[in-house]
Amino acid sequence: MGSQLGRYFRVTTFGESHGPGLGCVVENCPAGLLLCEEDIQKELDRRRPGQSRITTPRQERDRVEILSGVFEGKTLGTPIALLVRNENARAKDYEDFRHIYRPSHADYTYDMRYGHRAHLGGGRASARTTIGVVAAGAIAKKILREKFGVEICAYVAQIKDLALAKDFKLPDIRTLQQIIEQNEVRCPDNELAQAMYRLIQDTRQDGDSLGGVIEAVAENVPPGWGDPVFDRLDAMIARAILAIPATKGVEIGSGFRSTTMTGSEHNDLFYVENGKIRTRTNHSGGIQGGISNGERIFVRVAFKPTATIARMQTTVTDQKEEVVLKVKGRHDPCVLPRAVPIVEAMLALVLVDAAMGAKLARLDSW
Ligand SMILES: Cc1cc2nc3c(=O)[nH]c(=O)nc-3n(C[C@H](O)[C@H](O)[C@H](O)COP(=O)(O)O)c2cc1C
Repeated sequence: MGSQLGRYFRVTTFGESHGPGLGCVVENCPAGLLLCEEDIQKELDRRRPGQSRITTPRQERDRVEILSGVFEGKTLGTPIALLVRNENARAKDYEDFRHIYRPSHADYTYDMRYGHRAHLGGGRASARTTIGVVAAGAIAKKILREKFGVEICAYVAQIKDLALAKDFKLPDIRTLQQIIEQNEVRCPDNELAQAMYRLIQDTRQDGDSLGGVIEAVAENVPPGWGDPVFDRLDAMIARAILAIPATKGVEIGSGFRSTTMTGSEHNDLFYVENGKIRTRTNHSGGIQGGISNGERIFVRVAFKPTATIARMQTTVTDQKEEVVLKVKGRHDPCVLPRAVPIVEAMLALVLVDAAMGAKLARLDSW
């Protein structure tokens, strides 16, 4: 229950934070796609813990193994199973919390639902479960790029109240993909990234944590992707994005800002450019009526401050005793830099699924 995403390009993830390993099974990936471990590894390396001084120091190489579905370097059309083994799980860090509910974690709710829970490192609620998402997303990205020229890029737009300037002009998407990898925060404004970096370091030293906003864009998505009414493209994106641990909100296009505008300010006026129907503005964020309109898909994602903090906090045990807790163990003072590839992967998974759905939508594409 609850571990599957996608109706056509179907991904099932598995694994817990401190178990032997994690990964995914991808069903219905078309045969004939060139695929090797390196295609997947390069995305996992962007998500990996211990990659910089502002991420958790847990050292995991997160090496992916392709167990099935690929033969002589090409997909077979059969299920693709991808596995990453845990190497640096430190169970003793969590022994004191076997019976304690950490504030704003999933300990209490998992206990209420299942009655039996892997308490080490958050178990199934851990962000390590997004390894399967990023691995499957790497395949989705490859199909989207090679078949449709679709490019996806996410980046950190805000940490606490340090935000990209309103008039910040995004470069073209290929440049964007490169420049965000040039600083540890993955923010496209290098100067702002340095300020964000210092804020994260200072907050960590103060035993606290931070949240912020990630923005994501997808370019060259053709018009016509998205299955109204319940599988609208915007609804599928929101569902997938909110499945990322620590997310608190999603906006498509103008999002909540649209509520302060009038219709005449907000409407995206059509025009024709080089024989193509375009819109002059993109408040719709590339989606109208739940279907892509060919403009840039634009998504904003709110992440809460990391739940684990190095401060005394009051909480309760599973025996309803009130206790004071100070969490040991390794954690991210701010999850956003590592969440960038996860947001991209979720968007890619939804888009490739929508692409397959669009093929079925009209007879002339059969
Ligand atoms: C990339 C990434 C890394 C994370 N690392 C941590 C962490 O080190 N410590 C922590 O308390 N939460 C971390 N989280 C968030 C928790 O997994 C999440 O907040 C928790 O399981 C409760 O779920 P919820 O916030 O979705 O309600 C991380 C999330 C992401 C996306």
